[in-house]
Amino acid sequence: MGTKAREIVELDVEKLIAELNRAYADEWLAFYQYWISARVAQGRESKVVVEELKRVALEELEHAEELADRIIQLGGRPLTNPKEWLTKANCAYKEPPNDPKDVARIIKDAIEAERCAISVYNKLAETTHSKDHATYHLARHILDEELAHEDAFENML
Ligand SMILES: [Fe+2]
Ligand SMILES: [Fe+2]
Repeated sequence: MGTKAREIVELDVEKLIAELNRAYADEWLAFYQYWISARVAQGRESKVVVEELKRVALEELEHAEELADRIIQLGGRPLTNPKEWLTKANCAYKEPPNDPKDVARIIKDAIEAERCAISVYNKLAETTHSKDHATYHLARHILDEELAHEDAFENML
């Protein structure tokens, strides 16, 4: 834990850690949604989408890592039980459609997840602006990538 790291945050640190943990849960669910969708998707049209889902899934995993590091730096504990991902997340988890050829559904569900993530990081950036530079910087960095993800998936419809 960073003692000074906590001290310089001009916010309720425990509330901030709880908010970071909710975003952390979102990232794991997004990672898994894309990872499993990439594996079950079938059909000729799915090839490009599958590659994109795999690429974006790894970026969501990276976001989870960055959030976990920040939570620990603030003296918190990242969620250690996957059961909590569903109960703590801000955004809904969408199972891949029963029809493995329904790639349009997979894309629409991914766009929904990205839009939810954009709201989450936009809010986190607002909350931390001028009050916690490190978390603000992280929120902005992740927000930029979520904006790019929404754009990438929208272009696939
Ligand atoms: Fe993400
Ligand atoms: Fe994303």
